[in-house]
Amino acid sequence: MGEIAIRGFRILQGFLSSEAQETMVAALREVAREAPLFSPQTPYGKPMRVRMTSAGKYGWYSDRRGYRYVEQHPDGSPWPPIPPEVLAVWNAVAGVLRQPDCCLVNYYGEDARMGMHQDRDEADFRWPVVSISLGDEGLFRIGNTTRGGKTESIWLKSGDVAVMGGEARLTYHGVDRIRFGSASLLDGGGRINLTLRVVD
Ligand code: SIN
Ligand code: MN
Repeated sequence: MGEIAIRGFRILQGFLSSEAQETMVAALREVAREAPLFSPQTPYGKPMRVRMTSAGKYGWYSDRRGYRYVEQHPDGSPWPPIPPEVLAVWNAVAGVLRQPDCCLVNYYGEDARMGMHQDRDEADFRWPVVSISLGDEGLFRIGNTTRGGKTESIWLKSGDVAVMGGEARLTYHGVDRIRFGSASLLDGGGRINLTLRVVD
């Protein structure tokens, strides 16, 4: 495992072994069975290219009314619990003082990407956002705490964990593209990114 720091983001490369990645994907399949992936609408009325679901007390949601956390999947069911394997990553890198109450599951298919944004729908920015990448490599772009300016990019690979905390908690970030088919972890290809968040 190697650790690099970019603009306050800690990137723990190869944090999860291939076996741990397989186990996590199996747990996430269960999550997606209970809470199917969907494409939220942006506040501007366009469907997002990334498909999403969540686990935990809260799930992240977006529609014409804006970005927010909600306690139910669009089908009306509560979100399934965050798998213990996923919580173990949080405990290892963010500590045990508080547990995340949302695990956002993002699935990137061949043409999916995510525009530059801040994660700022949570109540308390003292807690980090912890990201786990699985499957195909994704080109992750890191900007500044205000929109625009110079950026730096890094390919996040399957098993990498990124911790966005402290000064970097409100740094703009996004995913330009994935290298579809670069990993064999997911049948049918694509990339899963989990982000663990303390919401309330
Ligand atoms: C996100 O910012 O929610 C996702 C980041 C990623 O896919 O690596
Ligand atoms: Mn984000």
